[in-house]
Amino acid sequence: MTEGYEIIAEVYDKLNKDIDYSAWADFVEASFERYLPHKPSLVLDLACGTGSMTTELAGRGYDMIGVDGSEQMLSVASERAYVNFGEENEYRLPILYLLQDMRDFELYGTVGAVLCCLDSINYLTEDGDLEKCFKTVHNYLDPDGVFLFDINTPHKFRNIYGDNAYILEDEIDGQSVFCGWQNFFDEKSGICDFYLTLFSENEDGKYVREEEHQRERMYTFDEIKNALQNCGFEFLGASSDYNFGEINEKNERWYIAARAKK
Ligand SMILES: C[S@@+](CC[C@H](N)C(=O)[O-])C[C@H]1O[C@@H](n2cnc3c(N)ncnc32)[C@H](O)[C@@H]1O
Repeated sequence: MTEGYEIIAEVYDKLNKDIDYSAWADFVEASFERYLPHKPSLVLDLACGTGSMTTELAGRGYDMIGVDGSEQMLSVASERAYVNFGEENEYRLPILYLLQDMRDFELYGTVGAVLCCLDSINYLTEDGDLEKCFKTVHNYLDPDGVFLFDINTPHKFRNIYGDNAYILEDEIDGQSVFCGWQNFFDEKSGICDFYLTLFSENEDGKYVREEEHQRERMYTFDEIKNALQNCGFEFLGASSDYNFGEINEKNERWYIAARAKK
């Protein structure tokens, strides 16, 4: 069994096809307008995965850096950075991808904004990880730069993930893929373990079975707010959706904005 995103990288985008990154990027730009005096020119997409948000924002004119700890996810992201327009005309979006840990990464200088999308913050599972990550983000933000991220809520861990099992099914390049998930959530530690079994069809019609383990940690709203404050951030707000909707206990995701005070 592999850990993290080794086997899932190739099918990751298909499994997340319901996420509307264009609408999410609209929300990111609306947040820039709300919290920054002008558009940031350089933006870091932390735990960028296959580069869905990175590519979307690069296409809108931002210079992007994408950091992720998975070679396989970055490999998919790098391929997506090429845009074809007409025969033999290829353009590479202005994205620098770096294979690094989100708790302890190094950039060449500071950036105007840092994003961390699709519950990547919940992948920080050890005590002290959250603070390590927030401190490093703070270090590489311009004074008053913004940090935008989302988390899976306690409600989602307790009632949606829980100890549930589910199957996702799709077709990739004409071949079927089935992904089964079995979750184990421990309320005391806040840790949710996900055991994934992926069946993907080969060209000869036979199926290959692969297994992967992933782990997320539940954080309460207060834990996030306190960690931000302890790491030099001013908490700016939390939204339940891409329209700055008010949050409540039943939301599955909270979108958080913070400003680096320096
Ligand atoms: C749920 S995916 C989200 C990817 C991307 N942000 C998106 O919107 O599709 C979580 C990502 O976090 C990355 N990740 C998890 N732990 C990490 C760490 N300690 N350092 C860097 N990346 C990490 C994984 O490799 C994976 O690409």
